[in-house]
Amino acid sequence: MKLLVCGGAGFIGSTFVRQRVMEYGDEVTVLDKLTYAGREENLADLLPERGFRFIRGAIEDAEAVPAAIRASDADAIVNFAAETHVDRSIAEPDAFVRTHALGTYVLLEAARERELRYLQVSTDEVYGSIEEGTFTEESPLRPSSPYSATKTGADLLVQSYFHTYGLPVTICRGSNNYGPYQYPEKLIPLMVLNALHGDPLPVYGDGMQVRNWIHARDFARAIGHVLEHGKLGEVYNAGGPDEEANIEVVRRIIELTGASESLIEHVADRPGHDRRYSLSSEKVRALGWEPEVRFDEGLAETVEWYRANEAWWGPIRSGDYRAYYERQYGQALG
Ligand code: NAD
Ligand code: TYD
Repeated sequence: MKLLVCGGAGFIGSTFVRQRVMEYGDEVTVLDKLTYAGREENLADLLPERGFRFIRGAIEDAEAVPAAIRASDADAIVNFAAETHVDRSIAEPDAFVRTHALGTYVLLEAARERELRYLQVSTDEVYGSIEEGTFTEESPLRPSSPYSATKTGADLLVQSYFHTYGLPVTICRGSNNYGPYQYPEKLIPLMVLNALHGDPLPVYGDGMQVRNWIHARDFARAIGHVLEHGKLGEVYNAGGPDEEANIEVVRRIIELTGASESLIEHVADRPGHDRRYSLSSEKVRALGWEPEVRFDEGLAETVEWYRANEAWWGPIRSGDYRAYYERQYGQALG
């Protein structure tokens, strides 16, 4: 396939692009604005590959998007481009509205103009929180943060283009991802790097919130699978094989890094914090996809990756991220 991958310089997008270029021989053009979370370094190993191209640009830019489509000669658009951190959406929601609402609209219009296949990458957070049981694709949409509300709006707009214009779309909703190249504002890389540095481990509230963890390579394969085999107009959930309470994740990271339990610090809870996410993946499993990485094994591999890749996280941890951390946690990194 020839793909235009928007947001391909981020954590999951770059994992997807690596898979498609190296394992499937696809031609991939990445369009990415390079926000604080987007990094060309994430794609450095792909630069020499035939059929890989990088373009810097925003999905809400109505000139850059058609130009990127022409340059890529794409058959399909896969959209990862998003603001992705719930805490930042609480502090500063404006970029979330712009990228998710306006950006998705500009992409859909460009796809419609050329009758391109369109896949929207989405999240289990559109369903809101669930105390017991598990969400299916039929569950009501009850997002609770500015992040998840704007992601939900984007999903609904994508579906409207299927119903109204017959645009060949699919949506793939993932549960919480982890793995190499994840920006250290998110739970797992934040805790791993703080543990390796002897910095406090800030657990929100009682730490008993539960997340359904999926390795980014598994989610990326699910997205490729939906693109190749999914029924047009449909939503597919891709959840990981394991659920874990945050405090257990942190304890496991302490074991894997050899840090001290005394680093755990219970801090003020996130406003509107969703208690539990849980996703049923029966529908995508019926298409032949299965997650391959169990959480224990994937977490150990992830910790080793961060240990071995200071060249990747060093510039982040010594740059703007420090100021973000101080604003968010009210204390400086050591
Ligand atoms: P990320 O923050 O690591 O990467 C986002 C990428 O999008 C960055 O490269 C950034 O530069 C780019 N981007 C942001 N705004 C843009 C814009 N306006 N125009 C062009 N590029 C822009 O995020 P991620 O964790 O890789 O998430 C990718 C997608 O997967 C998102 O749509 C997210 O909602 C979804 N998702 C993430 C998770 C998770 O746990 N991380 C789980 C389920 C779904
Ligand atoms: P996060 O990685 O931000 O993902 P999401 O909010 O999309 O699930 O957070 C995962 C969980 O970890 C969530 O319950 C919030 C919690 N958390 C902490 O307890 N401390 C932290 O410093 C962070 C970043 C998250």
